[in-house]
Amino acid sequence: MIAITKPQEIDVMMPAGEEFPKEKYEELNVFIESLETTKGALIEILHKAQHIFGYLPRDVQLYIARKLGIPGAEVFGVVSFYSYFSTKPSGKHTISVCMGTACFVRGADKIVEKFKEKLGIEANETTQDGLFTIKDVRCIGACGLAPVVMVDNKVFGRVKAEDIDGILDLYRTKEMQHADKIPGGAK
Ligand code: FES
Repeated sequence: MIAITKPQEIDVMMPAGEEFPKEKYEELNVFIESLETTKGALIEILHKAQHIFGYLPRDVQLYIARKLGIPGAEVFGVVSFYSYFSTKPSGKHTISVCMGTACFVRGADKIVEKFKEKLGIEANETTQDGLFTIKDVRCIGACGLAPVVMVDNKVFGRVKAEDIDGILDLYRTKEMQHADKIPGGAK
């Protein structure tokens, strides 16, 4: 006699890899359900998801696709098209180099290249120690200070390539001071 096994019930709405607490998915659900329609709202939903999860790993993208009833490829396509979206966790400090027109004509490309060279990473990547992520962003509304770099929420204006070591040292020093205060932290 052939044993017939009951198909396992799978909650298709939950991701396979439980990387994030359920509450984060619930927060996203509340947001999606608050929308009048999800048609044309994919970017808005991805923004919200990135805000909730910090970045958009594959599981979260697939979850959104299933929730909206659209192909995963559609979500992956949008995420990879916009540099704003990140599929990897960000470092402790996000260095956003403005590549808007005013900043660009004042040498923002050289600034971003210098950061990449100093940190050994590309835009949207994070250093191995998890300290810095580089992002190139569009106008942040401080064109009078071009070229502009933002580290987290702090704005640095009229940045020159030779200022970059100083900016990085500022955050590295902060990190060391912070570690000093932690029992067993770096001395
Ligand atoms: S173009 Fe860089 S702040 Fe406006």
